[in-house]
Amino acid sequence: MSKTDTAYQYWNTEWDNKNVSEKWTEAEPEVLATFEKIGKSKKILDLGAGVGRHSLPFAQNDCEVTAFDAAESGLASIEQLGKKNGVFIKTVLGKMDQLPFANDYFEHVLSWNTIYHGNHDILIDTVNEIKRVLKPGGTFHGTMLPQRRIELLKNEYDCKEISKNTWIINSDSESDKAHPHYYCSANELTAIFKDFEFNWLTMKEHDTPNSWHWHFMIEKL
Ligand SMILES: C[S@@+](CC[C@H](N)C(=O)[O-])C[C@H]1O[C@@H](n2cnc3c(N)ncnc32)[C@H](O)[C@@H]1O
Repeated sequence: MSKTDTAYQYWNTEWDNKNVSEKWTEAEPEVLATFEKIGKSKKILDLGAGVGRHSLPFAQNDCEVTAFDAAESGLASIEQLGKKNGVFIKTVLGKMDQLPFANDYFEHVLSWNTIYHGNHDILIDTVNEIKRVLKPGGTFHGTMLPQRRIELLKNEYDCKEISKNTWIINSDSESDKAHPHYYCSANELTAIFKDFEFNWLTMKEHDTPNSWHWHFMIEKL
């Protein structure tokens, strides 16, 4: 099977469009709420950083931030964002299943709406990479897509399962869902992150109705 981690191509075009990137500037309150737990002066990886709406507040909180993404256009915006706000945000281009960082380097990894872009193999390689680059006791704050979401999408769109839990969706409007996305149950999610300790796991609806996501905070043992 050819590689399924193609969604960044869609995002690379989107981030070049000001009308789109302007809608992705406000940080999620849930991410801002983690600052107290994480503290200052920490090494943070924003994995799938987009246009930097989370990298910026971490850098402003005196953290050493690395913004990592496979979409070059988003990283270029993050460099500008850092300069405009007088903070340094290191940007690194690459794929999430091969992180170019040393073992045990980061104290916290955030990956908001990113690691489910691909099939099971890509996800497992990415989770292993997150585990490798996190220090023992380091935290991972992530989102994933629940099975419930694909069941609801199936009522509306032409959806095709290309491998277990990996779906592509055909709709009239341009969407990154034309690229493979991974959807799983809570049991499957906890099995995928079996080497971590769960602080919490919950399901939340994002801006649009039925846009359910798993949200979780876990620690490397
Ligand atoms: C939905 S956007 C979220 C961006 C950001 N986390 C936020 O919340 O604003 C998903 C991001 O993941 C990146 N991405 C998708 N697949 C990737 C891959 N295989 N490796 C690295 N980044 C990837 C995309 O380029 C895009 O910037």
